[in-house]
Amino acid sequence: MTDTKKTAQLSLNGETYELPIFSPTTGPDVLDIRKLYGQAGVFTYDPGFTSTASCDSTITYIDGGKGELLHRGYPIDQLASKSHHLEVCYLLLYGELPTAAQLEDFETRVTRHTMVHEQMHNFFRGFRRDAHPMATLVGVVGAMSAFYHDSTDINDPWQREVAAIRLIAKLPTIAAMAYKYSIGQPFVYPRNDLDYAANFLHMCFSVPAEEYHVDPILARAMDRIFILHADHEQNASTSTVRLASSSGANPFACIAAGIACLWGPAHGGANQACLEMLKEIGSVDRIPEFIERAKDKNDPFRLMGFGHRVYKNTDPRAKVLKQSADEVLELLGVEDNPLLQVAKELERTALNDEYFIEKKLFPNVDFYSGIILEAMGFPTSMFTPIFALSRTVGWISQWKEMIADPQNKIGRPRQLYLGETARDYIDIESR
Ligand code: SDX
Repeated sequence: MTDTKKTAQLSLNGETYELPIFSPTTGPDVLDIRKLYGQAGVFTYDPGFTSTASCDSTITYIDGGKGELLHRGYPIDQLASKSHHLEVCYLLLYGELPTAAQLEDFETRVTRHTMVHEQMHNFFRGFRRDAHPMATLVGVVGAMSAFYHDSTDINDPWQREVAAIRLIAKLPTIAAMAYKYSIGQPFVYPRNDLDYAANFLHMCFSVPAEEYHVDPILARAMDRIFILHADHEQNASTSTVRLASSSGANPFACIAAGIACLWGPAHGGANQACLEMLKEIGSVDRIPEFIERAKDKNDPFRLMGFGHRVYKNTDPRAKVLKQSADEVLELLGVEDNPLLQVAKELERTALNDEYFIEKKLFPNVDFYSGIILEAMGFPTSMFTPIFALSRTVGWISQWKEMIADPQNKIGRPRQLYLGETARDYIDIESR
């Protein structure tokens, strides 16, 4: 950040305080309030962090007004059409697009870490078969710190690098194992001759009883979904990973915390909730009923896959996913998929409704992704695990950036206390 030498003045209780202003390479200026409590004895108040920059970062930039998303400066639509997930992983982790040699080395390192410790197979057997795969994912990823002790020392750059590669490499394997376990099929080992997306489809959909050939079109669509979910600035789950990491916790525990946060329906769980909503709507003639429910303050129903804390324009990822949904469903011969028709009509109706226009509610990344994933053969319970495995590179890139930041300190917010002032204990006889 650049110190602009400009300051903002705060007048409080007859005093004036100078707050330094820092400018980013692009986006809003920030007020530096780090000394405010020490100087003025007041906190700032921002539940939900609607106006708070929690850190500085060079990884991802979002312009909510324009609907722009950049990863290390590269627009998401260009990465989605020209790159592939492991190349985007390299970009997020190291800051630049790799040379051919760098990419080959990186892909080889990831490929050779895709298997999990064989003892983890037993770990899975402790779960009920009907456990939600996200519950399994949180548990197994957290347990990685019990299997990979040699990459838990966050002060060792080499161990940080190994932990990053292990997480990127093993999350698809663990997510596929969670799926197989939930449907009572045997685990399928990763194959080193398949690329990242094809390997995931192989681990999810192949069975020992017959040959399984990965459809390259589906592998490309899968890879594009991974890219579109890879990172997204300081969203709730990334902020969870950063806060957990600020105490010095090991990377596997921190990523497990991020997975737990992502599961919520207001965040990554929205892709599952959105498809379930589209199924509940069922047909275009029921859309007005649900639009009215979404606008009714007395009804907790919200249009899942719509709205965003940052985007006040269409989420650029939703645009790519909408196009990808058309392509994948046509290739699968289900272009007249009723859910896609409901989704498109729901989007058209909402975007022309005064409530959604006034509140700047647009489709987000979760609105079309579920339609594609269901058409590819995934149950709704696997939608958020796929989001989690895609986002792992974003979480771990932000984790690496934070650990390496000399300003890094434990995150410890304060509060506006509205409880009782000090009072004496009352014996039970007197209550
Ligand atoms: C993700 O942060 C990220 O970057 C997240 C993410 C990522 O890649 O990491 O992009 C992924 O989480 C996408 C969001 C997925 N969630 C959903 O689709 C769930 C539905 N959306 C909403 O719950 C909501 O829009 C949020 C949670 C996404 C954003 O909530 P905010 O920013 O806190 O906004 P808000 O709840 O204050 O809503 C503002 C107004 C409210 O009305 P008023 O109180 O002002 O009268 O808009 C209304 C809300 O009631 N509103 C909606 C709505 N979303 C907001 N009304 C109906 N349907 C909706 N979907």
